[in-house]
Amino acid sequence: MDTLRNGRSASFPLLSVLLLFFLISSSLPSLTLSASSLRCHAADKRVLWKIKKSLKISDYYFDSWNPSTDCCNWNYVVCDLSDRVSQLLFYNIYTPFQIPEAVGDLPYLKTLEFRDSTNLTGSIPYSITKLPSLETLSIWNTSLSGPIPEFLSKLKNLRYLYLGYNQLSGPIPASLANLNKLQNLDLQSNKLTGSIPNSFGRFKDGVLAIFSLSLSHNQLSGAIPKSIDVSNIDLSHNRLSGDASMLLRENGAGTWIDLSYNQFDFDLTKVRFPKGLMTLDLSHNKIHGNIPKQVIELMNLQRMDLSYNQLCGEIPFAGNVQKNLMSAKAFAHNRCLCGPPLPNKCK
Ligand SMILES: *[C@@H]1O[C@H](CO)[C@@H](O)[C@H](O)[C@H]1NC(C)=O
Ligand SMILES: *[C@@H]1O[C@H](CO)[C@@H](O)[C@H](O)[C@H]1NC(C)=O
Repeated sequence: MDTLRNGRSASFPLLSVLLLFFLISSSLPSLTLSASSLRCHAADKRVLWKIKKSLKISDYYFDSWNPSTDCCNWNYVVCDLSDRVSQLLFYNIYTPFQIPEAVGDLPYLKTLEFRDSTNLTGSIPYSITKLPSLETLSIWNTSLSGPIPEFLSKLKNLRYLYLGYNQLSGPIPASLANLNKLQNLDLQSNKLTGSIPNSFGRFKDGVLAIFSLSLSHNQLSGAIPKSIDVSNIDLSHNRLSGDASMLLRENGAGTWIDLSYNQFDFDLTKVRFPKGLMTLDLSHNKIHGNIPKQVIELMNLQRMDLSYNQLCGEIPFAGNVQKNLMSAKAFAHNRCLCGPPLPNKCK
């Protein structure tokens, strides 16, 4: 009973505040009405109309793209506070189409996304270099093909570049490292070849934001840049080789490192794991040496997989290595690792 009474008395002031708002806003009907009907900028509307025409798309989602209505309310379209089109978010478009050139004529665009549209073919049009404010470019799970264009490095405000699950081929342009606001580069599940450009050693965690790099599930080969040091890195399922110990330094940034399914070949013995390491997957490589004892000092370690390598010696089995469900599986199929959790005793 007490709670009910308290709840009720608390809701009275709230109700009167709402009522006041209602009275104020209803006394200015003309203002609110005109603001909403005039929202869409005429130039943006013209461009969107051009995009609709070039797409030749019949999906019912485009029915809302009606020139007599406010384009800020159209499906796939988001306007900013100054009523300019700031986001175009296309997804699940079944009709075959290509990215329209006209997207480059929306000067306030911050986010451009095409996802889950496997009938999207062709490549990224050069016209997107006319989008100085673009912060997010996401073309994800489409049939986009051809090389990753060099001209993406002209998008100086780009923070997020997501091009995963496409048919992109050829090398990764070294010039992407010139995008100095970039925080997340995800090119996973394509057909990219060649090596990781040395310029990628320039990618660093920012003061506020960590850097994430995913190049997994491609056909990348060769060694990785010596100065690379970022928080989240996924290079799994490639043909990378040589040394990767630069990612494993005590004061390194690494928190989430997946190098599994490659041909990395280096001595783990002298490595010092980054203090903030949470996840480490080195499985399915050719890494040799012993597992450094320092691994048991890692406070945040949650998952580790060292299976399918050439490691030897006693497993440091204490701390989080023991606590966080690191079963024999995580150490299996090495040359001569021994001791718990493996069944074979050290000699
Ligand atoms: C792609 O387009 C073809 C031809 O219009 C259509 O038959 C098919 O269902 C579409 N596929 C997808 C995944 O949307
Ligand atoms: C890609 O999109 C299709 C729908 O077009 C969906 O069924 C599939 O799960 C998506 N794949 C990924 C990896 O997101």
